[in-house]
Parts: sequence; structure tokens; C-alpha cells
Amino acid sequence: MAYRTLDDLDLKGRRVLVRVDINVPVRDDRVTDTTRMEAIRPTVLEILAGGGLPVLLAHFGRPKGKAVPELTLGQLIDPLTEVLGTPVQFSPDCIGPMAERAADRLAAGHVLLLENTRFHPGEEANDPAFAQALARLGEAYVNDAFSAAHRAHASTEGLARLLPSAAGRLMQAELAALAGALTDPERPVIAVIGGAKISTKLELLGNLIARVDQIVIGGGMANTFLAARGIDVGKSLCEHDLAGAAREIIVRSQAAGCELVLPTDVVVAREFKAGAASAVVAADACPPDAMILDLGPASVEDIKARFALAKTVVWNGPLGAFEIEPFNAATDAAALAAADLTQAGRLLSVAGGGDTVAALNASGAAARFSYVSTAGGAFLEWLEGKTLPGVAALEAAS
Ligand code: 3PG
Ligand code: MG
Repeated sequence: MAYRTLDDLDLKGRRVLVRVDINVPVRDDRVTDTTRMEAIRPTVLEILAGGGLPVLLAHFGRPKGKAVPELTLGQLIDPLTEVLGTPVQFSPDCIGPMAERAADRLAAGHVLLLENTRFHPGEEANDPAFAQALARLGEAYVNDAFSAAHRAHASTEGLARLLPSAAGRLMQAELAALAGALTDPERPVIAVIGGAKISTKLELLGNLIARVDQIVIGGGMANTFLAARGIDVGKSLCEHDLAGAAREIIVRSQAAGCELVLPTDVVVAREFKAGAASAVVAADACPPDAMILDLGPASVEDIKARFALAKTVVWNGPLGAFEIEPFNAATDAAALAAADLTQAGRLLSVAGGGDTVAALNASGAAARFSYVSTAGGAFLEWLEGKTLPGVAALEAAS
């Protein structure tokens, strides 16, 4: 479906409301990862270069419709100024007289950041009156927040109906990468799906079965598949109550001609801690008092061989308990193999969702993937085949 971009908007002299996602991790008053700030830079700078006045709309955390001081966007002014390399002004409310005055007085070359949109209940309720109040602050709307596009909120959805609208450059890049990986991919396509729980990935697996050629299953959720095949997984993390759902996925994938790749060997340990004594055993030989914490080397070699024959890999979720060594080994080795093939021009690799990026960053693999999404939940919902309200609103407005 089509949507307009910055190329289609008249920017000169106009105040452009830009929905961004700068919901960045903060620890001890410091931003620990500025990736999402860096990612909006092209759009903001392009609006400035075109003579427009960017007015940034964003949420931070989940204040649930109330002003929560700890969730003020004021704490991001300095890091944002640094990343954007332009002066950032701040309005302590995102609507009303204060915001209107700040938007009116915005000087060329400056950026205005408005306070957390979620301080008002109208944001998440997608209240038309709240959207109108936001719309008064600008003459055009740009949505550059793919990672918040799964929310039908006033600043992500409602505004697109009130002002001339377009996708920002990051939104465009995310949509293009995802389309390349799933809508119209070069085949064979392999999905790598890991993570702790199958319960959070059932919809995603159901959608992928019809669209990809192989699904490599890793992480704790692989244990549920093993259990579904009657294998004893000892003390491993396993959603035994979902064995039936896993069996259904197995049956449906066979009918669809999608190969489900389960581990053939695994790494087991008796303690869940860094450096715990571990052993490699066949996938059906986990001792009753041990737990599976990673895929084994034969499984990794199998995955690497599959990557070498693939054209496209889409990756969501770690293959093992990557937060503690040495159970990051399979994730690292497989991700580095995908990165090498990508750099050699043989593979399109796209990754995203939750702690996936953290897992793939640790080895340096992510930096050498074709595309790493800034999105968590939105990436998952996209893989599930769901319509993202923020994207649908841009398409409807085009
Ligand atoms: C995210 O961090 O995934 C996005 O900013 C969306 O946040 P939310 O899950 O609170 O809507
Ligand atoms: Mg989220």
C-alpha cells in the first residue's frame, strides 16, 4: 500500500508535527542506548534543511494519562540536543496555551520537543478533541515512529486524519526492510524464532508458516516443541500446557510445506548462572535434573548450512539464555554467520523485536545485518501479519 513521504510535503516555513519514538532506556539518569534518537535524525534534519520547523511528539514509558515526573521528556533534552546537533526547546505540556506559544515562537533551525503525550488520557484513548489540540500546533504531520505504530493513539493515528500527513525516513526504511524480508522476499526465506516462551509467539508462528520456507526454532520455546514430540526436557523452561498448540503448529507447517527446524543437540546445565558447568547432549537426552540453556554445536552447524543456501533471514528472539555466558554461544555463532553472508552480499538479514537486538549486538553481529529494526512490539505484530494502525492511517491519508 502507498503512503506519502517527506518528498510529498511542503515544508518551507511550516511547523511539522513529527511523531517520534524516543522511548529510550535510562539508568541512573543516563540514557544507556541512543539508537532510537539517532534513528530519527535524518527526518528531523531533512525538515530543517527544507525550511520546516520540527515539533516533536513522543511518549516515554507508560504514565497512563497522568503527569508522572519521573517520565518527563525534559530529561532527554540534553542527549537529544547532542544526537541531533541542533538546539532543542522544550514545552512542559504537549497541548494548550504553553505548547501553542512555544510552537508559535519556534525559530528556524530549532527543534521543539513537547512533553510526554501519554501524560494526557486523550493520547491512548485516541480522543478526537486531544488530537485536535495537537493539530493546532502545526500545519503538517509526519509519523517517524514505526516502533509505536502498533498503537492507535492520537499522536500515532488520529493526527494523520487531521493534517497533511507523510511517513518519515525511518518509518520508510522500516517498512521497506520488512517488505523485503516478508512481503516480497527473495527465496528461500528462513525465519529464526527464539525467546523464552512459545505463548508469546504462537500468532507469529501461525503467520510465518504460510510465508517462509523454514522456521528455525530456538530458545526456551524450542523445549515446548521437543516436549510436544514426547521428549523429556528435564527441568528446562517449558510450557507443557501448550504442547498441544505446538503439535498443531507442527501439523500446519507440514501441510504448508514450511520446514520447522528443531535442535538436534543442546547444551544442558544444572544451574542457571554464568559459567555453570555444562555439557552437550542429544536433544532427546536432557538429564531429568538438568535444563536446556542453549542449542548445541551440531544444531548451530545445521543452521549455518541453511543460511548459506538462503537468500533472506528474518530473526526474532535469542537461541539460548544469551544473557549469561556461555549460553550465548549459539546465538552469537549463528548471528555472526548471517552477518558474514550479509556482508558478502549473499543474504538479506533483518532482525528486530524486544531483546533480539541486545542479543545480536553483544557479538557485534547486528551492526553487519542488512537491517535492524528499532521496534519491539510493533515488529512482532508486523510479523504476526497484523495491520499497524499508525501505518494504516498514513496509507489512508495518501
Ligand atoms: C516500545 O518501546 O516498544 C515503544 O516505544 C512502544 O511502547 P509501548 O509498548 O509502551 O506502547
Ligand atoms: Mg513495548
